[in-house]
Parts: sequence; structure tokens; C-alpha cells
Amino acid sequence: MKIKLEHISKRYPNRDKKVGGVFTAVDDFDLTIPDGKLVGLLGPSGCGKSTTLNMICGLETPTEGKIWFGDTDVTKLTPELRGVGMVFQSYALYPHLTVRQNIMFPLENLKGAEKLPKDEMLRRVEQAAGLVQIGELLDRKPNEMSGGQQQRVAIARALVKMPKVLLLDEPLSNLDARLRLSTREEIRRIQRETGITTIFVTHDQEEAMSICDEIVVMEAGIIRQVGRPQNVYDEPDNLFVSKFLGTPPINVFEATVKDEQLLIGDATVLDVPGVPDGPVTAGVRPEGFIVDAEGPLVCGLEIVERMGRDKSVVATHPKLTGTKQIRAIIDSDVHVSTHTDTVRFRLRRAKTRLFDVQTGERIHFAHDEVVREYNRQTGA
Ligand SMILES: Nc1ncnc2c1ncn2[C@@H]1O[C@H](COP(=O)(O)OP(=O)(O)O)[C@@H](O)[C@H]1O
Ligand SMILES: [Mg+2]
Repeated sequence: MKIKLEHISKRYPNRDKKVGGVFTAVDDFDLTIPDGKLVGLLGPSGCGKSTTLNMICGLETPTEGKIWFGDTDVTKLTPELRGVGMVFQSYALYPHLTVRQNIMFPLENLKGAEKLPKDEMLRRVEQAAGLVQIGELLDRKPNEMSGGQQQRVAIARALVKMPKVLLLDEPLSNLDARLRLSTREEIRRIQRETGITTIFVTHDQEEAMSICDEIVVMEAGIIRQVGRPQNVYDEPDNLFVSKFLGTPPINVFEATVKDEQLLIGDATVLDVPGVPDGPVTAGVRPEGFIVDAEGPLVCGLEIVERMGRDKSVVATHPKLTGTKQIRAIIDSDVHVSTHTDTVRFRLRRAKTRLFDVQTGERIHFAHDEVVREYNRQTGA
């Protein structure tokens, strides 16, 4: 089911009585979610992710705008009539019911023509339980299961009515790190197997990047960028997006452009064809630093950490903003002398991004145009 959010906004009376007035939780959100895809709504806490999801499922009504499921305007439809399955952070299972009864619950509430015979209900429960691989646990009570298993029950319960759309609101937040990893893979698998259009809400960029076909990065009720995870990581439209994606985070410098050269302090670090003279914000991904004894960017060396496959060089530079230290990730076989207190780097063009100092909007080098045209033509 294709979903179209047409300029939807949601305003609430401000919770902060001192400030008063209205608070815009979701601001002119315009987005098409393709059929059969897994799409992540990603952004910091309070940016309007749950509000958006609740409007899609019908728990909230938009103040402005329309919501379409295929060719149907569902803006005013109640949740029951939308054919959506919803999973929340708290699994919200009934503790006194068995897993089987919990999963069957939505089917037992069907009315009129939709009502199913008991054996069909049981068959559907088995099918949904099989899909999330808890078929052997149907007679247990929720408190006899791990958090990960309970969340699978909640997913099975959302799937049992065979929804056209599956909505997941931070479904992994209550799980420990290991279960988070395996459960997110599980969600990916279930989505692939069922082909149900799925919207996955999270504040965890790594989670969204690893399983989503597309991510929608939000800040304060506004869409900042939409795209395939790797594309958004490589080609951020603005400083916010570049900083929100990636661990370790992008390293941000105060810099200047003069005669199509990028300068950090008085070191000339990169050709930036087509960029006008003036101050810029330069972001360099951790993998964008190349250790080079002749490299132009001279940094204070703090420590070199080995991390299995690669090494992390922790360094300082007076023009660094935000974080106190640069974190550069390099191959583990590159030697870095720790007998000196400086380390020198060259920068990789493809890992260095420029932004407007005032607006944070991306400033492209001329070279980028060539790359983007290529991407457009090849659909990358
Ligand atoms: N019923 C409400 N009344 C007033 N403000 C609300 C209400 N619901 C949510 N908000 C505010 O809207 C913003 C977005 O909330 P939410 O969608 O829950 O964010 P997220 O899920 O991204 O953390 C928050 O600042 C929140 O305080
Ligand atoms: Mg939320």
C-alpha cells in the first residue's frame, strides 16, 4: 500500500503554560512512502516521529493536510478502518492471557461480516506466530518470556489481521543491546517476507540505517532529508543531517575558502572547485582522514586505539567545533608513530562536505555535480 502524506501539520496547545499559544509538533510534512518498502522515520527525541505515526494510524488527526492510502483519503477514518498494525515500545501484552490468546485478541474483536470462525482464527495465530518464530511458545504467559520474545508476540499481534501497513514506534528501545540487533534483523526479514509497507520509527541512526530501504531524517517537526541510507550519509543536504548520521560522528571545522581552495587555519587542505570565497563549515567523516607525514592538516596527537579491523586516531585541532577531539578511522595496518605529539593528515574529497556557516545548507563543489548527475542517471 502506497502512503501519501500531503502537507500534514499537527499543532497542539503548548504544554508549557508560561509560553502558551500553539506548538507545532509536525510542520508541513510532505512525503510519499512507496508500496512494499521499509521506511525509517529518524530524528532526535521530540522531533515529531510518534505524532506522525499516530496520524498515519488514525490515533491523531492532522490539523492540516491529508493522508492517502493508495487512492483512498483516510484522513478522517478511525484506526480500525485503516487496516494498520501497530507496535509500540512497550509491548503492552495482556499478562493474564497466553501468547496464543494475546495474538488472537484483535481477531476476536472483529465485528459483523469480518468475524472469523474459531478454527480460522487459530490458523491465523499459528501463521503469525510462525512468521516471528515463536510457534513453540503459544501456551506461555508473557512473564515467562524474554523482552525480545515479548516484542515478537506484539509484532505477531499486529500482523494477525494481515494489515496493509505496519507501523513500529521505537519497537526495540526496551531490549538489551544484543536483542536489539537480532530483533531488528528479524523485523527486516518479516518485512521482506510479507512485503507489507512498514514505517519504523527510531531515534537511533544506526538502527534505521541498517535495516531501512529509505530513511526520513526529521528535526523539530520538519523533514530534513529523505533517501536511501547510504546516499543520505554520503550526500547530506545540511549540517544537521551530516551530524545526525554516523558513528563516530562527522568532524566539524571552522574553515574558509579562498581561490577555490579549502583552508583550515592556514593549511590548504583541499581543492573545492566552484565554491566562492568566504567562511564555510567543513565536515570530515572519520574515514576521510589519510595519515600522511607530508599531509597539510597538522593535528595534536592524543592517542591511537586499535579496534580489531581498524584503528582510531584521536587528535585535536584548534579549528574543530562541537566535539573536543577528532576521531579518524584508518586501516589497522597503517603505522602511526606515537613518539611525536603531532599527526598529519590529508583529506579525502568524497568524505569532506561543506556547509553554509549561517544556514547549515550544503555547499557543493563543482566536482559534486558530475557525481550527482552520474548517480541520477544510474539511479544510485
Ligand atoms: N498532546 C500533546 N500536547 C502538547 N504537545 C504535545 C502533545 N503530544 C506531543 N507533543 C509535543 O510534540 C513534540 C513531538 O512529540 P513526539 O511526536 O512524541 O516526538 P518523538 O516521537 O519524535 O519523540 C514534542 O515536543 C511533544 O512534547
Ligand atoms: Mg516517540
